[in-house]
Amino acid sequence: MSKQLNIGLFGFGVVGEGLYKVLQQTPTLNASISKVVIKHPEKKRSAPASLFSTEANDILNDESINVIVELIDDADAAYHIITSALKKGKNVVSANKKCIANHLEELLDLQRSTGATLLYEAAACASIPVIRNLEEYYDNDLLQGVKGIINGSTNYILTRMTKDKLDFNHALLQAQQLGFAESDPSLDINGTDALNKLTILLLHSYGIATEPKELLHTGIQNVYSADINVAKEKGWQVKLIAGAAKLKNGKVNAFVLPQFVPSSSLLYNVHDEFNGALIQSGLADEQFFYGKGAGSFPTASAVLSDISALRYQYKYEYKKYYREQESSLTTNIYLKVYVSFNRVQQLNKDGFEWIEEWHNGQDRNYVIGVIHQQKLLADDWWKQPGVSLILTPEPFVEDIQLRKVKQKSLELAGVL
Ligand code: HSE
Repeated sequence: MSKQLNIGLFGFGVVGEGLYKVLQQTPTLNASISKVVIKHPEKKRSAPASLFSTEANDILNDESINVIVELIDDADAAYHIITSALKKGKNVVSANKKCIANHLEELLDLQRSTGATLLYEAAACASIPVIRNLEEYYDNDLLQGVKGIINGSTNYILTRMTKDKLDFNHALLQAQQLGFAESDPSLDINGTDALNKLTILLLHSYGIATEPKELLHTGIQNVYSADINVAKEKGWQVKLIAGAAKLKNGKVNAFVLPQFVPSSSLLYNVHDEFNGALIQSGLADEQFFYGKGAGSFPTASAVLSDISALRYQYKYEYKKYYREQESSLTTNIYLKVYVSFNRVQQLNKDGFEWIEEWHNGQDRNYVIGVIHQQKLLADDWWKQPGVSLILTPEPFVEDIQLRKVKQKSLELAGVL
């Protein structure tokens, strides 16, 4: 018989309450919640009042509690809970992507020094077991890339804007009402939530520990109906994509950006709050993970799986991070992008290597051109209100192609 898990739960919001209900229906797990610490005792709860406390130490100092489940949305408070629990030798399950992504190395060190375990499958793609698969199954040398839709709220908003022609704010309100959005929804909309998740995926994919803010990113705050219409005309859809790909030089490029997704891609049919992750493997070719990326029970299901894994002492080994030959990030790549704008003054034409298409519309205009990623990182003219930058379906222009295209344009111009 497996060890009895006595859980101390922090947070009884959308996911915490979902977990409470699910645990009651899973007696074989041999796990029960002994105490729940909450911030607002005045709120009505669907569990006995005796279970609740507002004092974190009621859990942290209780020696009978051997698992801490942290499901609060305040990343700073989560940091305090996770680190205190690990230091006390207690195993922790967390879904707090912001806290984990911003303290990766420290949390790894703490697990090493204390021997305690931190699991966080719910922190990326909610119900999809992507972290454990990247960690265990995909050897560093075989993994060519991971890309996907990893924020449910923005995917829900884009789906409603595309399918129902709903306006942005209305669609956002629905995502909030359905419990998909963060309590500060700007984290979803401006790409921060996807960025935090990508940071975690980079660690488990390539052993790269980076700070989220170092990566090229934006969200869907500047995606306009006009952009969605351009996508439709071309048989594409606009999706917020997080990607990490190994380039020909072996270095890894990573970003979170809106991208046009063609109908030939498996990501094209990922709608609503669903997430999808495409894994490009050297031997297995393309593989696809699909499932609900937000919401009470889908997220609780990943938390439950982590709790269950603790029964057999599962822990992330971070093999790729600790191995001697490290992978590293590069921003040295050219990207083919679509940029729409209201006024030509908003476009930094000099930033482009070249522009292939230029369309003037009644309300909005757009160009398609090639730009170096470092120029996008150095200057954020393309993030200003009214300007929308969307990656094209095949965005990477590696050097060899660049030279070829340049040569061709010189040929066409009669220079060569
Ligand atoms: N706000 C997040 C999302 C919740 O929409 O994906 C799940 O991490």
